[in-house]
Amino acid sequence: NSMNVNNSMNVNNSMNVNNSMNVNNSMNVGRNLHLQQNHPLNTIKSTIENHFNSTHSEPFALHDSLSPVVTTKHCFDDLLIPPDHVSRSYSDTYYIDAHHCLRTHTSAHQSTLIAAGESQFLCTGDVYRRDEIDSSHYPVFHQMEGVKMFPLGTPTKVIEDDLKSVLSGMAKTLFGDVEMRWVDAYFPFTEPSYELEIFFNGEWLEVLGSGVIQQQIVRNAGHGEQPGWAFGLGLERLAMVLFEIPDIRLFWSSDPRFHEQFKAGEIVKFKGYSKYPPVHRDISFWTGGKEFHPNDLCEIVRGVCIEEDLVEKVELIDEFVHPKTNKTSNCFRVTYRSMDRSLTNKEVDEIHFQVRDNAVADLGIEIR
Ligand code: PHE
Repeated sequence: NSMNVNNSMNVNNSMNVNNSMNVNNSMNVGRNLHLQQNHPLNTIKSTIENHFNSTHSEPFALHDSLSPVVTTKHCFDDLLIPPDHVSRSYSDTYYIDAHHCLRTHTSAHQSTLIAAGESQFLCTGDVYRRDEIDSSHYPVFHQMEGVKMFPLGTPTKVIEDDLKSVLSGMAKTLFGDVEMRWVDAYFPFTEPSYELEIFFNGEWLEVLGSGVIQQQIVRNAGHGEQPGWAFGLGLERLAMVLFEIPDIRLFWSSDPRFHEQFKAGEIVKFKGYSKYPPVHRDISFWTGGKEFHPNDLCEIVRGVCIEEDLVEKVELIDEFVHPKTNKTSNCFRVTYRSMDRSLTNKEVDEIHFQVRDNAVADLGIEIR
């Protein structure tokens, strides 16, 4: 399932290229929620930035307006992500062409900023991943990246200790006096790597990924043997917990009932308001000769709902293999719901028929 961008067969696959072409009108590129005053994502961002700059005498450079269109070199190669790594695949990443994509993480800016000679920085932006559709997944979300470089010869132990004390201090600023633990992790660009988890509302919650930057990355960026650490975190995940926001699509809503609840810099509990009713439609099909990936179906549903965000959830509700033909049957339930108005059955029927037609045309499936 993992593909290589250098494989020309995949690059020429017309379905994938067409899907990445409608990136600009359907993907909320340029909305920059993290820059909107009073928006919960902006409050998380500025709280973290203030924490870093009040705990360090040397300021962290702040980047929050770098273009989300990056080269695959910056997004993957420079970070030592292997050519066959799943994060590069067409079912995970929005490609613009063979050498450009929408950044899948803010780590895409690590090596350029290190090469530019920055020794400590925070970098925030919108990131894009093809994904499932449910209350905590949306194809666009926001990340913050942090890097801190150290003088030549600083022992790894010192760097690791600093990473842990700075990042647990940041978590304390956001979450208060909570229990925390460091869990060993793996990222191609850091070694060792850790995830920070906090115990919050009765469960362990992953807050960030981090680690000591692979020396090869720094060397390639022209800074030789200078050591450093890096972390990356998702703003939505933290905001959903801290503000008690139950659905990731609410961040994109234009409903004043959402926005009037928030003031810059203040973490308050979101008060739910009544939602418009959901409309469910199922789609059952035999998967065809092409390998079927559920993200591709999600992408088709999103593609049909380009003008408005009408899909709340796509879930697999039944799957079986026919004993004689050996064909696989899938049934997905699509939940349509608008954040801003009631949907009519008629318009949902039209959308869903279009979804079926496009799925047949693009995914080589056979409707049951
Ligand atoms: N880029 C990683 C992700 O998106 C997070 C990360 C950043 C991990 C920096 C380690 C260091 O999951």
